[in-house]
Amino acid sequence: MPMEIRFDQMNCVVTGGAGGIGLETAKLLRDSGAKVWILDRVAVSEPGVESLVLDLRDDEAFAKALDRIGAVDVAVLNAGICRPQKLEETTRENWQATLDINLSAVFFHLKELAIRMKQRRKGSMVLTASTNSFDGEADLISYNASKAGLLGILHTAANELGPYGIRVNAVCPGLIETALTASAFADERLIKPYFEALPLGRGGKPLEVANAIAFLASDVASYITGTSVFVDGGQMATKFGTWGNLESRFEGGKWCLS
Ligand SMILES: NC(=O)c1ccc[n+]([C@@H]2O[C@H](COP(=O)([O-])OP(=O)(O)OC[C@H]3O[C@@H](n4cnc5c(N)ncnc54)[C@H](O)[C@@H]3O)[C@@H](O)[C@H]2O)c1
Repeated sequence: MPMEIRFDQMNCVVTGGAGGIGLETAKLLRDSGAKVWILDRVAVSEPGVESLVLDLRDDEAFAKALDRIGAVDVAVLNAGICRPQKLEETTRENWQATLDINLSAVFFHLKELAIRMKQRRKGSMVLTASTNSFDGEADLISYNASKAGLLGILHTAANELGPYGIRVNAVCPGLIETALTASAFADERLIKPYFEALPLGRGGKPLEVANAIAFLASDVASYITGTSVFVDGGQMATKFGTWGNLESRFEGGKWCLS
């Protein structure tokens, strides 16, 4: 039988779905048969997708949104921010703001969902972590700490919720072209050396992350829980970079062989 990833009759929630990775994921789930709810502080006008506007740091507002949505089959916990600052200049405000949405909010969302999914003995959640969950990219100490913290949530939740038929996984994107990274993509001086170190020689598209999220969320991944999947063009596989000693050129935003 051919492999098919479908979400027919499934209720799917995507946090931070107003743009970038979340919006591509919402559209993909919708196109694969799901009823999709986007929860974001920004309203979305997307056919066949319900948009609920809230501050995702507000636990009460999130619980109310879940009451409205009803039983959730799939939750993609994706909202996040990134505010670069040098380690010794990082303010408590930056630290707290980043952890509030990237880590604490994800915990409270996952907890609310777990309580409800446990009653039905089924469900699947996917967290948007990052390659920065594993590395120490400079000037991003609060972001890196928040994304590393997600791995603790991932492993513990997979462990405690597995017996109830609930799977929890994560994607770890590399540099993906979204509003969050628009300034980086606009600066060739930055992306040229960055992509030189990536086996695939280019940045990623939101849909390429959405595809991995949909796979992990779906029944096709029925024996996968507690894992994190890099969607990073091979970034985490290299040590000394990729393209430096090859006959190559940088063209159209990516490295190619000459
Ligand atoms: N773009 C990348 O290169 C990249 C790489 C690794 C991980 N990520 C992660 O992917 C996720 C999505 O990022 P993206 O690149 O699509 O960025 P994005 O800025 O397009 O999307 C983030 C969304 O989260 C929403 N959001 C943020 N704080 C909120 C709050 N308090 N309440 C409600 N909504 C809130 C924003 O409105 C936005 O729609 C983030 O968790 C990010 O850390 C992105």
